[in-house]
Amino acid sequence: MNFKEALVGRRSVRRYADRPVGREMVSSLIEAAEAAPSAGNLRAREYYVVARPELKAALAAAAFGQEHVASAPVVIVVCADPARSGRRYGDRGQLYSIQDAASATTCLLLAAFDMGLSGCWTGAFDELMVREILSLPRRLVPTAIVPIGWPAERPAPPPGRDMAEAVHWIEG
Ligand SMILES: Cc1cc2nc3c(=O)[nH]c(=O)nc-3n(C[C@H](O)[C@H](O)[C@H](O)COP(=O)(O)O)c2cc1C
Repeated sequence: MNFKEALVGRRSVRRYADRPVGREMVSSLIEAAEAAPSAGNLRAREYYVVARPELKAALAAAAFGQEHVASAPVVIVVCADPARSGRRYGDRGQLYSIQDAASATTCLLLAAFDMGLSGCWTGAFDELMVREILSLPRRLVPTAIVPIGWPAERPAPPPGRDMAEAVHWIEG
C-alpha cells in the first residue's frame, strides 16, 4: 500500500473481529502518533490505553452509548495538555494542544490502517465522565476516544463534497 492508498482507503470502522491487538502493535500506533507535527515540538498530548472490559464499557456509556467503543479489543484515549503548550505560548497554547492531539489522532488512525487494523475517531462523549473513568489529572483534556481492532466490516467511502465550496484559490 502506498501513502495515497492509505489516505484514501482508510475508513472509520465500528465493528471488530474477536481477535486481540497486542501491546507491541499499540506501541507502534503510539509511535506513529508521536511522529505527527506539534506546535514547537512540544507534543502536548498523552495517551491512555484501555483494555479492561469494565472501563471500555464505561467509556462507551460516556460516549452516549456508542457500542463500538466497548466492543474493540483496545481503546486509546488521546488527551491534550493545554498547560504544557500554554507555558510557552500563553492563551494560544490552548488551541495548539488540541491541534497536537488531533494531528496525533490522525497519524494513529492512518498507521492502524497501514497495519491492517482499524478504528474510529470518537469525539462525541461526556468529558467529565471520561475524566472520572480514567482518573485523568486535571491538566489533561480528553479529545478523542479511539477504539482499535481488526476490521469486521468494510464501510463504503463517505460521499465527497463540492471542493469549489472548500478551496479558495488566491492568485495573480
Ligand atoms: C472530530 C471527530 C469526531 C468524530 N466523532 C465521531 C463519533 O463520536 N462517533 C463516530 O461513530 N464517528 C465519529 N467520527 C468519525 C466520522 O464520522 C468519520 O470520520 C466521517 O464520517 C468520515 O468517514 P471516514 O472516517 O470513514 O472517512 C468523528 C470524526 C472526527 C474527525
